Amino acid sequence: MLSESDLESGAIIKRGIEMVRGDGCHVWDATGKKYIDMGASYGVLNVGHRNRMVLDAIKAQSEELIYVSSSYDNPARRELMERLLSVSPEGMSRVFLCNSGTESMEAALKFAFKLTGRKKLVAAKRAFHGRTLGSLSLTFAPAHREGMDGLLLPVEFVPYGVIDEMNRAVTEETAAVVLEPIQGEGGVHVPPEGYLKAVREICDEKGALLIIDEVQTGLCRTGRFFAIQHSSVAPDIMCVGKSLGGGLPIAAAVLSRRMGEVPKGLHGSTFGGNPLACAAANASLEFMVEERLDVRAASLGKHLMDGLRDLKCPQIREVRGRGLMVGLELRSRAGPFLSALLDKGIAAIPTGASVIRFLPPLVIGKDDIDTAVSTVKEVLDGPVS
Ligand SMILES: Cc1ncc(COP(=O)(O)O)c(C=O)c1O
Repeated sequence: MLSESDLESGAIIKRGIEMVRGDGCHVWDATGKKYIDMGASYGVLNVGHRNRMVLDAIKAQSEELIYVSSSYDNPARRELMERLLSVSPEGMSRVFLCNSGTESMEAALKFAFKLTGRKKLVAAKRAFHGRTLGSLSLTFAPAHREGMDGLLLPVEFVPYGVIDEMNRAVTEETAAVVLEPIQGEGGVHVPPEGYLKAVREICDEKGALLIIDEVQTGLCRTGRFFAIQHSSVAPDIMCVGKSLGGGLPIAAAVLSRRMGEVPKGLHGSTFGGNPLACAAANASLEFMVEERLDVRAASLGKHLMDGLRDLKCPQIREVRGRGLMVGLELRSRAGPFLSALLDKGIAAIPTGASVIRFLPPLVIGKDDIDTAVSTVKEVLDGPVS
C-alpha cells in the first residue's frame, strides 16, 4: 500500500530522514543531527524556521479568532492586503487570497480568461507553475503532465528568454503570457536583460495580459521584494505563495489597477484569507521589511555565488542566480552529490537532473554559507557513487 508521501511526484532527496525541529536556518532530524537548511524546504522559510514574530502572531491570533469566512471583514485579512500591496510593484491594487501557489495561478487564469474573453495561453519551456489542471497546463516537464492528455488547457510553450519566439507566439487570441521572472524548478535561469520588458510590450501590442509567477522568486528571495522589480515591468497579475505565511499555507493573486473589474463570485476559497494564516503573513511581511531581507539576500547571495565560483572544481559547469536563489550546475547528475551533502549536514535541493539549488532562509549568516560552500567542495572533490 502507498503512503501519502509515496504518491507525491516531488524529487525525493532521501527517505528515512525524519525532520522534527527547525530554528532559523537550521533543522534537526529525529536522531538529533543538525543540518543547515540550504533549501528552506523549497523556498518556504524566507524568514527562517520558528521566526519569533510569526510565532507570536500565530499565538495571539489563535487566542482571538482562528477562522471566519471571507463573507465578513477581518482586521488581519485587511491588514495583509494593505501590507502586500505596499511592497508590490507600482500599480497593483487588489488582492485575492488563497492557500497555495497553484491556487493563486488557477485564480489568475480565471481572471485572465474572464477579463479578456480569450482562451489561449503562452508560457515558457522549462516552466513550473503548479500541479492542478490549470497550472499544470503551464508546467512544461512531461514527467508532471504524464497521463493528463486531453485534460489540459491549450498552451504554446516558447524558449525562455528568446523574444522573437515570444513575438511570434502571442496573437490577438492570447489571453495571457505566463512567466516566472527567474525560472526555479526549471534549473534557476535568469532571463537576459530587457527580456521581461520586451514581453510586456508584446502583451500590450496584442492586448494580452502578463501574469508573473513570483511564488518562488517573491518576498525578498532575489534581492528585491519581487524579482520583477529588477526590471521596470508592471505585471497585470502577480502570483505569490510559499514564504508568505512564514511556514503556514497562504498565497495570493495580486491584480493591477489596469485590469477591469473582476465579477463578484467568479472565484472564491473557503480557507483563503483565514485570520490565522493572515496574521502569520502579516508578521512575516513585517519582519521582511524591518530586517531588510531584500538587501540581505542581495549581499549574501553575492557571497554565496562568489564562494561557489571560487571553488573552481572541474565538476562545476556554471554558478547562476540572483540574490539567495542560486543554481550550481554540474557536469554530471546532481542526485549523488545532494545525498552526500545531506550526509554531511547540508540540506540543499535539486532542480533538473544536474543542478543543485540553494534557496536558504534569508536569515542565514555568512558562517553557515561558508560551511555549506566548503562542504560542497569536499563533496565535489571526494568519491561519490
Ligand atoms: C514558480 C512556482 N509556481 C507555482 C508553484 C506551485 O506552488 P504550490 O506547490 O504551493 O502549489 C511553485 C512550487 O514550487 C513554483 O515554484
